[in-house]
Amino acid sequence: MSTKKIAVVGGDGIGPEVTKQAVVLLERLREKKGLPIEMWELDLGADRYLRDGTTFPKEISDQIRTECAAVLLGAMGDPRVPGLEHARDILFGMRFGYDLYANVRPVKALSDRLIPLKGRTAKDVDFIVFRENTEGVYVGFGGQFKKGTPDEIGINEDVNTRKGVERIIRAAFEWAKKNDKKRVCMADKSNAMTFAHELWLRTFREVAKEYAGIEARHVYVDALCLYMIQDPTQFDVIVTNNLFGDIVTDLGAALQGGLGMAASANVHASDGSRVAMFEPVHGSAPPLAGKDLANPFAAFLSAGMLLTHLGFTGYEATIERIVSAALDEGKCTKDVGGELGTRAAAAWVIERVVSEA
Ligand code: NAD
Ligand code: IPM
Ligand code: MN
Repeated sequence: MSTKKIAVVGGDGIGPEVTKQAVVLLERLREKKGLPIEMWELDLGADRYLRDGTTFPKEISDQIRTECAAVLLGAMGDPRVPGLEHARDILFGMRFGYDLYANVRPVKALSDRLIPLKGRTAKDVDFIVFRENTEGVYVGFGGQFKKGTPDEIGINEDVNTRKGVERIIRAAFEWAKKNDKKRVCMADKSNAMTFAHELWLRTFREVAKEYAGIEARHVYVDALCLYMIQDPTQFDVIVTNNLFGDIVTDLGAALQGGLGMAASANVHASDGSRVAMFEPVHGSAPPLAGKDLANPFAAFLSAGMLLTHLGFTGYEATIERIVSAALDEGKCTKDVGGELGTRAAAAWVIERVVSEA
C-alpha cells in the first residue's frame, strides 16, 4: 500500500493541544504497526492569520486535495478574530471546497458514568447523525442592509438543492444498510419551512422506497430534541440539514458526556478515494486553552474514524475500548470527572492503545 499523507491542522485554542496528542497516537501506531502514513503539519489558524493575513491559500488547498488521503483538524475560532474570517476560509474551505457533503457524527456513549439521563446506561446512547455539510444557511447567501440604523435588515438564505438533499439522505440509508441498522430518521421543519423542507420530506420518502427493510421515520426537529432526551434508544441513524445537524450533535454530545467526547468525519460519502476531514465536534474552547485542561478523547476518537476511513481496520474499536476504560478508571480530564490533565490522560490512553494494537 502506498503511503497515505495526512494533513494536520491544529487550529486555534485547545485545537493544537488535543491534535498534538492525536498525532502522537497516530505516530506511535505507525512505528509499532508499520502503518503507511505520513503526517504533514500545517501552520494555519488565527496565529498565522494575525501574523501575515494567511487563511487558506489555494496552493495548500490544492495540495491537500491532490496529495492527501485525510485531514486531521483540531478546532477553529479565536476571540482575537471576532469575524472568524480565517475559520470560515479553512473549515468551510475544506467542507465546501472538497465537497465533503456528509458530516458524520456518532453519538455513542462510552461510559455509564457519563450518561446524564436517569436510569440510562451507555448502551442506550448509540446512534449516528448524518449532517448535510455543503448547503443550508451555511452557504453564505445573503447580506445586510441599512446596517446600524433602526431599519437594518440581516438575511441568510437557506439553500437546499435536490442533489444535495438526496445525496445526504442516500448516504444515511447506505450507512444503515452496510451496518445492519434498521431505522433511519429524518428531521426537518417542514411544517414551517414549507418550501425548502417539503423538498427534504418528499426526497426522503422517495429515497426510502429503495430501502425496503429499513424503517424510514420523519420527525420535526423540535420533537427530535425531545425524543433524544426522553429515549435515545429509538434512533439508529438520524439525517438532517446543516444547521439542525450542528445543533442536535451538541445535544448528542451532552448524551456522550460532553463535547470532549464527540468525534466526527467530513466525507464525500459516495467516493471514498477523495480526501476526507476528521475533527472533534467541539470548538476551540478559548477559556481552556493552554491550561492542560482540554479533553483529548474526542480528538482520539476522530483519529480512530480516520484510520478506519483509510482502510486500517480494528484501531478505531481499540481506541474506543481504551477510552472507555480510561473513563471507567477515572484516567481522564475534569470535564468527564477525572483529575488528569490533557497530557496525562492522553499518555494513559496512548500507552494502552499502542500496547494492545
Ligand atoms: P466549544 O465547543 O469551544 O465549547 C463549548 C463548551 O464545551 C465549553 O464549556 C467548553 O469548555 C467545553 N469543551 C469543548 N471542548 C472541550 C474539550 N475538548 N474538553 C473539555 N471541555 C470542552 O464551543 P463555543 O464556546 O461555542 O465556541 C468557541 C469557539 O470555537 C468559537 O469561535 C466557535 O465558533 C468555535 N467552534 C469551532 C468548531 C470547529 O472548529 N469545528 C466547532 C465548534 C465551535
Ligand atoms: C461545528 C461548528 C461549526 C459549524 C462552526 C465553527 C462554524 O459549530 O463544526 O460543529 O457550525 O459547523
Ligand atoms: Mn457545532
